[in-house]
Formats: sequence, structure tokens, C-alpha cells
Amino acid sequence: MIATASFPLPGAPHLAYREENLQLEEVALDQLADRYGTPLFVYSKAAMLAALAAYQSGLAGRDAQICYAMKANSSLGVLQVFAQAGCGFDIVSGGELDRVIAAGGDVRKVIFSGVGKTRTEMRQALLAGIACFNVESEAELDVLSGIAAGMQLIAPVSIRVNPNVDAKTHPYISTGLKGNKFGVAHEDALRIYRHAATLPGLRVVGIDCHIGSQITDTTPYLDAMDRVLDLVASIETAGIPIEHIDFGGGLGIDYNHDTPPAADALWRALLAKLDARGYGNRKIMLEPGRSLIGNAGVCLTEVLYLKPGEQKNFCVIDAAMNDLPRPAMYQAFHAIVPLAKGRDLPAVNYDVVGPVCESGDWIGRDRALAVQSGDRLAVLSAGAYCMSMASNYNTRGRAAEVLVDGQHAQLIRSRETPADQMRNERLLAS
Ligand code: LLP
Repeated sequence: MIATASFPLPGAPHLAYREENLQLEEVALDQLADRYGTPLFVYSKAAMLAALAAYQSGLAGRDAQICYAMKANSSLGVLQVFAQAGCGFDIVSGGELDRVIAAGGDVRKVIFSGVGKTRTEMRQALLAGIACFNVESEAELDVLSGIAAGMQLIAPVSIRVNPNVDAKTHPYISTGLKGNKFGVAHEDALRIYRHAATLPGLRVVGIDCHIGSQITDTTPYLDAMDRVLDLVASIETAGIPIEHIDFGGGLGIDYNHDTPPAADALWRALLAKLDARGYGNRKIMLEPGRSLIGNAGVCLTEVLYLKPGEQKNFCVIDAAMNDLPRPAMYQAFHAIVPLAKGRDLPAVNYDVVGPVCESGDWIGRDRALAVQSGDRLAVLSAGAYCMSMASNYNTRGRAAEVLVDGQHAQLIRSRETPADQMRNERLLAS
């Protein structure tokens, strides 16, 4: 039997072994790998909707809009599920806006975040009629006002404030501290709001913050809320009404038996504070990404070679850092489990690595696995920031994606071919 640290499966409510074979909802993953090949991302619609339901239950009875932060996973089939469930979208580029429209999402529920919106993107979003621009600097305010006024339009804006709280997460995904490139400093916010209120092309509608990602503790959220509400009070005293408060995203998921608060529990705690401070009737916006899709997805991969070594044993798989960039980028942990359990093999400690020509191309370190070449594995909690961050490094085509709904499985993206990859390239004329 296999003795891995990965049982029970972390964060995977719709994933289970049935007669030794891993299933997502009612679908045997091995069969999907047979049919569509590997590496293959597979998502559970029920897991996505259950994650969303946790937010909806925490926010029940409130004027709240959940805007899925689609950078976590922007595949059209995934967006369709959230759009049909009533979500708006938090976008960070014109390309993401195009995706919302292609997936049938409601542009009036779109908010546009990001420190570097181009003028073209601003025009595109103004024409589309999005709900709000989350502005990140004074310079951006001036440019947006000029562009909107030139189009005889008014841009609805919220200013992203940096509450200077420590989200206690990986430095690359912590965004709410001084010294991050995001938002405007808390102490400058009132002055910048006053300035925004004077600009002809803008209408101030809200305030927003986002303190980081993969947050597993409630305290930074409560602290950030206090800081933001202090600002709302002073901005409104200055005569600028704040219609909505956007608390961003950031809630963590279970990668390695992590224990983030459940979304409903987190929101009950946050709403208690909002009520206590007299802002309970205010419209709330939020921008969750990872917590809606992360645990709903797995990446299926095949063992290509086992490579025993003096210092380390390597398990070479057909998925790589171009498919699953999080370990290489953030030393992130993803559980790795076999699709077929109960192999009559000894468990051996492996570094699980991909075929890309970089030592940084590892997916898991020191994993006890009972596998042989040709076996298949599932990399868990791979719904967020995997496919959306995938690249073509080493001219590897991006993986295919399947969405599972009960007993049904639908291909939502076919595997990228070399021709797809070379489509926009041109040979030299001579
Ligand atoms: N809102 C804003 C303004 C953001 O910058 C982000 C994420 C979100 C919402 C959604 O945060 P979430 O709920 O997903 O934590 N690639 C990294 C994560 C980068 C997050 C960037 N911003 C990773 O794989 O861990």
C-alpha cells in the first residue's frame, strides 16, 4: 500500500476513490485520460458551485455582488458556469473583458482592476459599460477622466487603497503592504478621493482593497476592513458618498491540509464588524478567484520514466512547469496522488519533475509514490492559477481541459497543437 502524506485528499470534496480508481463527481479520471490524453485539466462544476454557495450563504440577505477574479482561471467554460450562477467578473485586461463577453457574462457586473490599464483598454471598458474601474494611482485617475470626458462618458470609479496589513502569505502574492505596487497609500487616500471628485470624466462610486492571496487567517481581513471603514468615514465627511465597498479576494484554499476559514464563516465575521460599525446596509463587492475554482480542478499526468539516483529519485511526468507553474514560481505545494490506488509496489520517495529543461521544473518534492512508468497521477488543487498561467515554454502545447458535471464530461478546451502555437509567426521574407 502507498503511504503518502496526501491521504485524505486535501481540499477535494468532489474527488474520491471508488473501487481504487479516482473519480471527480461521477466520472472516472482514468477514462478521461484515455479519451483526451495527458496532461489534462479536469474541473468539477459541483465543486465550483459549492464554493460559490459558501459565499452566497455568508452574504445572504445583503446587497452583495460577487465578481469572480477570472485571472485564477479564465477558460470560457469556467466563466460560463460562474456567469450563469449570477457572478460578475473582476478583470485585469481588455482580453479578459473579451472573454467575459464571449462567455455570455454580464458586462454591467464587471469591475476592472490592475495598476497598468492602457488607454485602449479604458476605452474598450467604457464602451462596454462596465460597473466600475478600480483605480490604482492618481495618474491613472487623470488619464481615465480625460478619456471618458473625451468620449462624453462618465467613468464609475473606486480607488484601491492599500490598508498596510500583513496578509501573512507568500511575498509574491501579498499585496496589501506598503512597498507593494498596488493601490494608493492609506494616508494619501482622502486627498486622492477629493481630487477624483473634481475630475469631469469620473463619478466616485466605491472604495476597494485587496490584501493578498492564499490568506488562511481571518484577522488580516478584519484589520483591513477596519482600516477601509475608517477611510469611508473620512471620505464621506468630506462630502463624497461611497456607494459600495469592495473587499477584494484572497481567501486561501486547502493545498496541504491548510485550514483557511470557510467563506461563509469569514463573511459572517466580516459582516458582524460591518454591522457593528454601522455600514451593514452598504453594497458589498468581492473579488474571489482561487477560493471559487482552486480545489475544483485537478491536472492528470502520466509517469514517463522513473529515474533512481544516488541522492534523489526522480519521477518524470508529462506535465511540467509550463502547465503547473506554481511550484517553480512560489515553491507551492500541490498534492500528487495516483489515479489507481492499491498498486502492489513499494512506495518510494521521488522528486516529481517535468520534461522542461530547467532544474526549476519540479511539481512536487520528496513525495512517497508507488508508481511505475505508464501510471497516471493527479496533481490536486490545480483549478486556480495553473491553466491561466500556463505557457508554451519548450514549445509545449497547452493542455486540454474538461468540465465534469455529475456523470457528464465535456471538453472545454482542446489540446493546443504546434500549428496553433506557430499561427501568428511569420517566416523571414528572405
Ligand atoms: N482582486 C485583485 C485585485 C487581485 O489582484 C487578485 C489576485 C484577486 C482579486 C483574486 O485573488 P484570489 O481570491 O484568487 O486570491 N498566481 C498566484 C496568485 C496571484 C494573485 C493575484 N491577484 C498564485 O498562483 O498563487
